[in-house]
Amino acid sequence: MVKPHYFLPQEFLIAADYQRALQEDYAQVVQEPENHIRARYNIDVSSYYGPIKIKNPFGKSSGQLSTNKSQVVSDMEGGLGFTVLKTVIAEGQDHSSKMDEWKIFAPKMTVEKLTSRNGEEGYSVTWKGRGWNKSLEDYLSFVDEALSVQDDYPVIPSVKYHLPDLGEDYKLEEYMYTTQKLLEVWKKHRDGELVLEKDFSPTLASTDMAGQKERIISWLRDVPRLIKQSVDEPIHLGVKMMNTTIADEFQRELVRTFLGPDSTWLADFAVCFNRLFDPHKEYEGKVGVAYGGYDLSDRNLWALEEVIEEKPSRPVSATGNICSGKMMLEYALRGALNGQMHTFFQIPQTEYAQIDATRTQKAVHELLFNPQRGLVAGLIYIREILGKGSEPFTFLEVTDLDPFLLMK
Ligand SMILES: Cc1cc2nc3c(=O)[nH]c(=O)nc-3n(C[C@H](O)[C@H](O)[C@H](O)COP(=O)(O)O)c2cc1C
Repeated sequence: MVKPHYFLPQEFLIAADYQRALQEDYAQVVQEPENHIRARYNIDVSSYYGPIKIKNPFGKSSGQLSTNKSQVVSDMEGGLGFTVLKTVIAEGQDHSSKMDEWKIFAPKMTVEKLTSRNGEEGYSVTWKGRGWNKSLEDYLSFVDEALSVQDDYPVIPSVKYHLPDLGEDYKLEEYMYTTQKLLEVWKKHRDGELVLEKDFSPTLASTDMAGQKERIISWLRDVPRLIKQSVDEPIHLGVKMMNTTIADEFQRELVRTFLGPDSTWLADFAVCFNRLFDPHKEYEGKVGVAYGGYDLSDRNLWALEEVIEEKPSRPVSATGNICSGKMMLEYALRGALNGQMHTFFQIPQTEYAQIDATRTQKAVHELLFNPQRGLVAGLIYIREILGKGSEPFTFLEVTDLDPFLLMK
């Protein structure tokens, strides 16, 4: 059991006039929240996802909530910074796929309260599916529609490419065909480099076989090179690393190897880290499912502490139990430039402020304006500790900060 070092209090105590302003904002729908936050609090919450400027650090992670155009439209209208689309399983030109068994149709999801091993209560979603369950061709049409929602709304495709067992070769043709096809669709809508996530899922880490560490390291090392070599143009590649079922220290070893100062990794950024895996839990007849909640954020934050002093050598996109602005800031203090969420959009709506808005708007509003745990309250709190009064302050400054400065 690992315990991260929280640098921030459970609730932010800030000056009374700011507290009052936040109470007021929290109780109502705030139009163009980023402009409002700049004007009222002198704070800039914009950031980056890969090379893309985003208006706030909160995005939707790849999964069941980004499988059709209307979900992407509500993300954009609801005020999210970006959307990562559901993960497609790579195919070759003949439409076959080495990872075919990942195309599972499993619409049922269950949202549960979950108390972590360290005793904190959060939420986790259980399901038994895996990747996009339809063809690559269907996915390409979806990407096409999603990218056309709005020119400047950040939409990122996600792929699971073939991963060989020990002694097997990579199915390179699937790498080439799938990446080329995605690039073609991307170029219809965007001028810059194709921005892509490669997903390493929790279920990959479930086999307890000899040589597993070496296999995981070689996948993480080789796959970015293979993806980049599969087309003639540069790609901006994010690798969503898995949480392995191997001892916790191994997760830190991965962080040091790939995100440490000496890393020569070809990934342009890392998504840290996909969900935990419980090999014993049964759901809908399947034994072994992924889970999240505070166990997930505990392990992720703890693992990223491996490079807390030098900061990760590649930009990090955080994922895992981002359920408040405070949690986003804990990740930011470990170098994360943004946070991607799945579970937070599925929890009971009573957990959000009772404003007259869509679910996505409520979620973003909660993350930004909660007076005790929200991002703005947290940024005001950090600015006060740094002795900056009400000077202009930015979310990005936090990602660069020595978090130990916040220990009073
Ligand atoms: C139902 C469900 C489906 C998911 N499917 C994918 C997927 O296809 N690709 C992927 O990279 N991550 C997938 N994830 C992981 C999420 O994108 C996210 O990284 C993870 O759940 C941690 O964030 P959270 O704690 O906010 O849920 C899925 C998660 C859930 C709950």
